[in-house]
Amino acid sequence: MNIRAGRLKKKMNRYAASFTSSLEFDKRIFEADVDCNIAHCTMLAAEGIIEQEDADKIINSLDELKKAGIEALDLDPSVEDIHMAVESYVTQKIGDVAGFMHTAKSRNDQVATDLRLVLVREIEEIEHDILKFIDNILKMAEIHTETVMVGYTHLQHAQPTTFAHHLLAYANALKRDYERLKDAYNRVNMNPLGSAAMTTTSFNINRELTTELLGFHGLMKNSIDAVSSRDFAAETVFCLCMLASTLSKICEELINWSSYEFGILEISDEFSSTSSIMPQKKNPDLAEITRAKTAVLYGELMTVMTILKALPHSYNRDLQEITPHLWNAVDTSKSMVNIVNKMLFTIKIDKNRLKDLATSNFSTATELADVIVREKNVPFRVAHKIVGRMVMHALENDITPGEIGSKFLDKIAQDLIGENLDLKDEIIQKALDPYENILMRKTVGGPSPDTVKSAIAELNAFLDKEQS
Ligand code: ARG
Repeated sequence: MNIRAGRLKKKMNRYAASFTSSLEFDKRIFEADVDCNIAHCTMLAAEGIIEQEDADKIINSLDELKKAGIEALDLDPSVEDIHMAVESYVTQKIGDVAGFMHTAKSRNDQVATDLRLVLVREIEEIEHDILKFIDNILKMAEIHTETVMVGYTHLQHAQPTTFAHHLLAYANALKRDYERLKDAYNRVNMNPLGSAAMTTTSFNINRELTTELLGFHGLMKNSIDAVSSRDFAAETVFCLCMLASTLSKICEELINWSSYEFGILEISDEFSSTSSIMPQKKNPDLAEITRAKTAVLYGELMTVMTILKALPHSYNRDLQEITPHLWNAVDTSKSMVNIVNKMLFTIKIDKNRLKDLATSNFSTATELADVIVREKNVPFRVAHKIVGRMVMHALENDITPGEIGSKFLDKIAQDLIGENLDLKDEIIQKALDPYENILMRKTVGGPSPDTVKSAIAELNAFLDKEQS
């Protein structure tokens, strides 16, 4: 049924219609569109703009449509979009009186409203999934506050830490990803309805009422801006990109650390793949796909940003092309969070290997330099030089950290500063012990088991607050 047959003599060409139709990705806003129409008609009747009796007929038909589902609609591309499909349905059911439903409304404000309504729900879901993930990470961290491992910078052994401390790095990044989304949510949750095509309408509509009926937090204060803007979509996709980047980082570590060379952890079979030719293989495919899907998200952000570039006010059909990219970003990131959550939660950690790595390659050297500063009042730069030279000699002569004593250190100190340090063997050995290193790092944010336990408690309190 063609309900817009006034201006044009001919129907749109078939190819042109399917080229321009948004019906496929509008399916996602079907229910929101019906709700938007119901709220709008309720308001029109409440304000005496249309007869209550007409509004009731329209609303009853919309309620029926909601029950019948999207299958009840004619989704031929020539219908153009979901808004036309819904209006055509109501017209078919109740006749010309349906024509009142588009009073004081345009598809321009309607589509912006529908997108925001759906996105609000999607963000809530993703937020919930992130909190679930943080919760699992905290559960894991609780059992690993004493699990010593080496931390990396430049992917080289840097300093000892614990697996719990490392897990809390994930939790903190995810917390920011969550907070970023929560902040964007405030700007998504605004009502553009009533802006009509771009300048509102001469009918005396009540925008506060539709805002309340649709559950938005507030209404958009400029009608031109309301129909033109999609920054709410762009910033949500950016938030999802940052989230994906956090997930990709986690995956990168799972991939590296599950290799034979690192041998730190094993990904569960359920989240692994094998090779069609090499019978021995256990591959981290899920982590790899997640890493790659991060690029898909970045691509969606670039697409959205580029569509927005140089668009004049107000509505331009270009805006329609943003929609499928928004949904793809939402779906992709949602699946990524849930996969990485499950994958991380089911890994097996090799504590002995972690400890060996932390013990064997002078990751405790910083602490020895610090001890020299504290005990002997030597400037840090001098201590740094002595320990650096000591490590060089030790590595050249196959001397392990456990074998370093006062004599060895003093030979180097004599060479460099012309005097002995006279540090006791026990003090040197304590400084070179990874676990002792960890116990001493009690500063807020650090790896000492007690510090990490308070950090876990703080994050748990944050989860409680957000989930209440
Ligand atoms: N399908 C359109 C979109 O997604 C709805 C608005 C169409 N408005 C118009 N003036 N053609 O943006």
